[in-house]
Amino acid sequence: MWDKLTEIQAKAEEAAASCQDLASLTEIKVAYLGKKGEITQISKMMGKVSPEERPRLGQAVNQAKQKVEAAIQRRMDELKEAALQQSLAEETADVTLPGTVFPAGSLHILTIVRREIEDIFTGMGYTIMEGSQVETDYYNFEALNIPKDHPARDMQDSFYFSGNLLLRTHTSPAQAHAMEQMQGQYPVKIIAPGVVYRRDDDATHSPMFHQVEGLLLDEHVTMGDLKGTLRAFAQQMFGAERQIRLRPSFFPFTEPSAEVDVSCFACGGAGCRLCKGSGWIEILGSGMVHPHVLEMSGYDPQKLTGFAFGMGVERIAMLKYGITDMRLLFDNDVRFLSGFGRA
Ligand code: PHE
Repeated sequence: MWDKLTEIQAKAEEAAASCQDLASLTEIKVAYLGKKGEITQISKMMGKVSPEERPRLGQAVNQAKQKVEAAIQRRMDELKEAALQQSLAEETADVTLPGTVFPAGSLHILTIVRREIEDIFTGMGYTIMEGSQVETDYYNFEALNIPKDHPARDMQDSFYFSGNLLLRTHTSPAQAHAMEQMQGQYPVKIIAPGVVYRRDDDATHSPMFHQVEGLLLDEHVTMGDLKGTLRAFAQQMFGAERQIRLRPSFFPFTEPSAEVDVSCFACGGAGCRLCKGSGWIEILGSGMVHPHVLEMSGYDPQKLTGFAFGMGVERIAMLKYGITDMRLLFDNDVRFLSGFGRA
């Protein structure tokens, strides 16, 4: 039996060492160490040897088992390593080939411009406020001194829901909301960017567009403050050389009211196609907050004065970047939009 064990062990080690693939290695393992394997068989014959010899034989069988297991494991490692080396040698990856390029997104031009406007005004101490796109007739019109049947409503013929709800036609309702929220405290110093809706649709008008409202309310606020503030804005947005001019205008919620023009940044004021020969480009509407508007929102016009302005974000973007058709801003054509690719 001793000889047989030595013989089986030698045979098994030899078989493992010369084995050429992992599958037959598994077969070898089964043939010697499996339930019916040759070494297992020997250990089952333990009963046939004398009780004195039994422990020695047991030890010898265990040793043989370990040796064979080790031989199989060694060969398995060798075969795996060889397979790896072979697949590496066969692999023909060309690391100089260009990879797959995923196009990087960028912010929409209107987001970029809105943020520029926000940065300029927050830099002057304004707080950003958000209004809601669905408004009541009161905030969109009445609180802004536009009573029912006022002709100014025609210009803002709009999208109505049932009842007295509508899609806001301008960001000016934010003026009334801001004043109500402040409950008589001052200064009130906010800008309110957001989406507005009007029944307009052509190359320079969209039924949905963006405005930024501004409101400053304090003691002794003058039209000079309005002009200085808007000049600082124009110079930061369009260039340090820019001048502005105020033209008399009318809005029911400001008195006096003014359209604000900026000196043409394409020709410097000499007159060109962009400014239609005038040297000036209109950029926003503004004025001193009407006393009645202050009163309706709980402020005393004897004590406080304020100015307000409202500008169109699309208009500012089109002027600044020379975009001639507003619809391009909403077509979502990446060939156009990626032209402004700043993240
Ligand atoms: N709300 C006005 C508009 O949409 C703009 C404006 C705002 C005018 C604030 C004066 C003061 O045309």
